[in-house]
Amino acid sequence: MTRRDRFEPSGPLRGSYTPPADKSISHRAALFGAMCDEPVRVHNYLDSADTRSTLAALLKLGAGVEEDGAQVLVRGVGLRVPLEATGGLLDVGNSGTLMRMLPGWLAGQPGGVWTLDGDESIRRRPVDRVAEPLSAMGAAVEAREGRFPPLTVRGARLSGIEYELPVASAQVKSCLLIAGLLAEGSTTVTERTPSRDHTERLLRRAGVPFEREGPRLTVSQVDELELDEIVVPGDPSSAAFVVAAATIVPRSRVVVTGVGLNWTRTGFLRVAERMGAVVVGEVEEPGTETDVEPVGELDAASAPLEGTEVEPHEVPAAIDELTLVGLLGAFADGETVVRGAGELRVKETDRIAAVVKGLRDLGADIEPTADGFAVRGDGSPLRGGIIDARGDHRMAMLGAVAGLASTDGVEVLGIDAASVSYPGFERDLRTLLGRG
Ligand code: S3P
Repeated sequence: MTRRDRFEPSGPLRGSYTPPADKSISHRAALFGAMCDEPVRVHNYLDSADTRSTLAALLKLGAGVEEDGAQVLVRGVGLRVPLEATGGLLDVGNSGTLMRMLPGWLAGQPGGVWTLDGDESIRRRPVDRVAEPLSAMGAAVEAREGRFPPLTVRGARLSGIEYELPVASAQVKSCLLIAGLLAEGSTTVTERTPSRDHTERLLRRAGVPFEREGPRLTVSQVDELELDEIVVPGDPSSAAFVVAAATIVPRSRVVVTGVGLNWTRTGFLRVAERMGAVVVGEVEEPGTETDVEPVGELDAASAPLEGTEVEPHEVPAAIDELTLVGLLGAFADGETVVRGAGELRVKETDRIAAVVKGLRDLGADIEPTADGFAVRGDGSPLRGGIIDARGDHRMAMLGAVAGLASTDGVEVLGIDAASVSYPGFERDLRTLLGRG
């Protein structure tokens, strides 16, 4: 039965708040830990449905996982999956990141055969984007209808390739860089627009020969990875829902602490600021190359907003927050246009269709385009209504935030989807609203 929850127009959000651990970095920390010979302690591992799928898959691949609160000790198997674990079915649940990244490791395991599958949403998400380049490296990778999960990976001795990403995707980039660790020679991945670089930062930390020359990233074969501890910062994508709420619910002011400020993840903040949002924080300078993940504070307060244009080159660094740009656009004065975001069509749901239907049902003047959307506002709040999350965690949370800032409230169908990335979402909102 789908849960139905009402989010009523509410007083200001106030106080200090720490978002849950970063989902992208948690997946990578666990996977890299499993590929190390020595145990890796991951501090502040995200406890969510998606990141549990990663731990379960790694257990099946022979790794050990010891959980102690928010700490996870991963006892890796090294770069070679042990013989007794070279095959079987791996369930990725709802996680696109696991579905696209893990095959990079599996592809380089000669003699191994695995099938990756997941929920109904995963079965609609394209995997040819990893199947093609991994096949070019020498693995045999088959997808249903050539394009969708289940995905069968037959490992092989890989050879390095030069590959230009046809879509800006950190998942595909990561998959190929990981496969490159096992491939003879070097592997070069070219990305025209920078996407999140957590994998690159971890590779540098793990002592892997790794170079960037403009858009070209090159990794070479290694015998081992060396990492000891990984500290996962708070997730800027989860914090974005609270920042958006603080921006559109009048008189709000929230200090977000312990949040990741990696510039490849903070595109939403740059767009929101341009719209007039007051978000102050030491966000990393665009173009920074380092092996650390910056962590810090953001101070967000409500403000009148103006429409803006989000151009294609800004999309990857804001990809998971673009629906929130739509929400802010509905409260802003003027037109907000998002371009070059066709990738939104292949997320947990078709997020262009979802945000257009969702916000329109709440009273917004919004239209889809082929690769984005355009929303017009006059600076007044949305009316409210009903929004169906259709299993998409980010649409569920968007509906809740819209409700707090609306005039009539919003009923969210399926708020429980939030637990895919942010299990404590409702509790955190209640606390910031002074109802904790
Ligand atoms: C992610 C990359 C992005 C993002 C997803 C997480 C990652 O996907 O939307 O939520 O952890 O690498 P794409 O690589 O498909 O753009």
